[in-house]
Amino acid sequence: MSNQSFLSLYSLFLGEASFELVSALKLVIQSSMESYEHGETQFQQLQSICASVCEKMTDSKIAHRAQKIESERERTERWGIYRDKRLERERDVLHGEWNSLNRSSLSNGTLPAAGSSSGSGPGVSLDSSINLDQGDPALFEEYWRKAGERFNVAIGGGELMSYFSNLNSMCWFLLPELDVSVRRLHRLIGNAATEGRHVVVGTGSTQLLQAVLYALSSGDSPDQEPLSVVCAAPYYSCYPEVTGILRSGLYKWEGDARSFDKDGPYIELVTSPNNPDGSIRGPVVNRGDGKVVYDLAYYWPQYTAITHQADHDIMLFTFSKSTGHAGSRIGWAILKDREVARKMIKFMEVTSIGVSKEAQFRASKILGAICDGYESLSPEVLPESFFEYSKRLMIKRWGKLEEAVKLGGGIFSLPKFSREYCLFSTEFTETRPAFAWLKCKEELKDAEGLLRAHKVLARGGSKFGVDPTFVRVSMLSREDVFDAFLERLSAIKGGIMSNGSHA
Ligand SMILES: Cc1ncc(COP(=O)(O)O)c(C=O)c1O
Repeated sequence: MSNQSFLSLYSLFLGEASFELVSALKLVIQSSMESYEHGETQFQQLQSICASVCEKMTDSKIAHRAQKIESERERTERWGIYRDKRLERERDVLHGEWNSLNRSSLSNGTLPAAGSSSGSGPGVSLDSSINLDQGDPALFEEYWRKAGERFNVAIGGGELMSYFSNLNSMCWFLLPELDVSVRRLHRLIGNAATEGRHVVVGTGSTQLLQAVLYALSSGDSPDQEPLSVVCAAPYYSCYPEVTGILRSGLYKWEGDARSFDKDGPYIELVTSPNNPDGSIRGPVVNRGDGKVVYDLAYYWPQYTAITHQADHDIMLFTFSKSTGHAGSRIGWAILKDREVARKMIKFMEVTSIGVSKEAQFRASKILGAICDGYESLSPEVLPESFFEYSKRLMIKRWGKLEEAVKLGGGIFSLPKFSREYCLFSTEFTETRPAFAWLKCKEELKDAEGLLRAHKVLARGGSKFGVDPTFVRVSMLSREDVFDAFLERLSAIKGGIMSNGSHA
C-alpha cells in the first residue's frame, strides 16, 4: 500500500464521512490482494490500521465506522481471497483482532447497546447491555459460515436487472427458482400443502401481512366500515403496529380476539407456534363472516413437531425464521384463492414494484441446497443437516434456560410444552420456541424492568396485549450473548430485596 493511500485512510478515520472511509478501505484491501499476487501480503498493515482504529474508538461515531469496516472485511472473505492457507491464518489473526477491538469498545460503552450484542456484532463484557428484545436469528450464523461454498451466490453486474422475473406467471416478480425451492422445501418438511396453490413472494412476511390485510379488506364499496383485525393475546407485538401505522380506512386493529364481540366481518391472525409464548394455536372467534390468516413463521422442525401438513386458505412463511436469513427480507404466502393472490400481487406492485431479485436468488439457492442435502443423503454434503443442527441447538438452549430458571428459586416461570410426534424427524419432540416467555412473581409486577435492572433488554407483556409480569426474551442470539443472559438471570435471585422490589 502506498504511503499516500495509508495517509488518506488514516485521515478518514479521524473525521471524514464513513462512506469515503469504506471506499478507502476497499482500495487498501484491493492493493493487498494485488501485492499478494506478487508474493507479498499487507495484512500486517491492515492489522496496524485496525489497532489505530482501536485507539481512536472513543466515541460511537468511530465505533460505527469500525463496524462498517468489519462488514467490508467480511465481504472480502466472500470474494474468496482467503483460500490460500497462509492467508487463512492471517485472516484468523485479523478476525481475533477485530473481536478484541469490538470488545474493548463495548466495555468502554462506545457502541450503542441496542442490537449490537444480539447479532454478529461485538462480544459481551460484564457491564454491557444484552439486547434480547428482537428475534434476530444470529444463532444460525455459525452453521452457514461453516457450510461452505455450495450456499454462496455470485451475481454478475448485468444479471437480474429487469423488474420482471416471469411474465407467464400471475406473480410476475417471483423468480421461478424460488417458487420451485419453496414448494420443494415444504414437500420435504411436510409442513404445508403447496400443490395447486399460489405462491406470492414478499419483502419479508411483514410486507405480506400488509398485502393480505389489503387483499381481504379492499371491497367494492367505498363507504364500508374498516374491517376489524384481531389476534388472541398474547399476540405478536408487531401486529398492532403493522395494522395501525397508516390509519387505514380499510382495516383497523381491534386487539384481543378472545374479547372481540363486534358484529360483522373480521380478520383473525393465528400464529402457530405463537410468538411470544410458543403455544400451538387455532382460531378463537370462529364465525362464518371471518377470514383467518395463518402466520406459520415458526412451523419448522427446529422449533416444534411437524404434526400435520398445514392446508389453510392463507399461510405466511418467512426465510428469517426458517433458516435464519432475516437480512434477505424474503417471505412467501401460500394461497388457495386466486383473487386474494391477485390483490396481494397488486399491493406489492404498488408499494415496491416487486421484491428484490438478488434476495430471491439467494433464498432459492439456500432453500434448494438444503433440499439437495436431504435428498442426496450423502454424508460429505454436510456433516449435519440444517434442521437437525438447529433443533439440537434449540434443545440445548432450552435445557440451559430451564436449569437457570429453576435455580432462580421461583422468581420466573416458563410455559409448559407438550411432546408430540414429529412426522419430519419421526420421533417425539417438544416445542422449543424462538422466544422464552418468562413470567415473574406477581408481586414483582414488572418483568421487563427486572431484567433491565440487570442490563438485559427484552420486551414486556403489555406490548403483547397482556400484563407486565410477562416478558419475552429472544432465544436466537449468539452463543456468548445467550450464556451472558443466563448468568444475569441467575444473578437476579440476589437482586431481589426483602420488600419484594429489585435492585
Ligand atoms: C410471528 C412472526 N411473523 C412474522 C415475522 C416477520 O418476519 P419477516 O422477517 O419475514 O418480516 C416475525 C418476526 O419476528 C414473527 O415473529
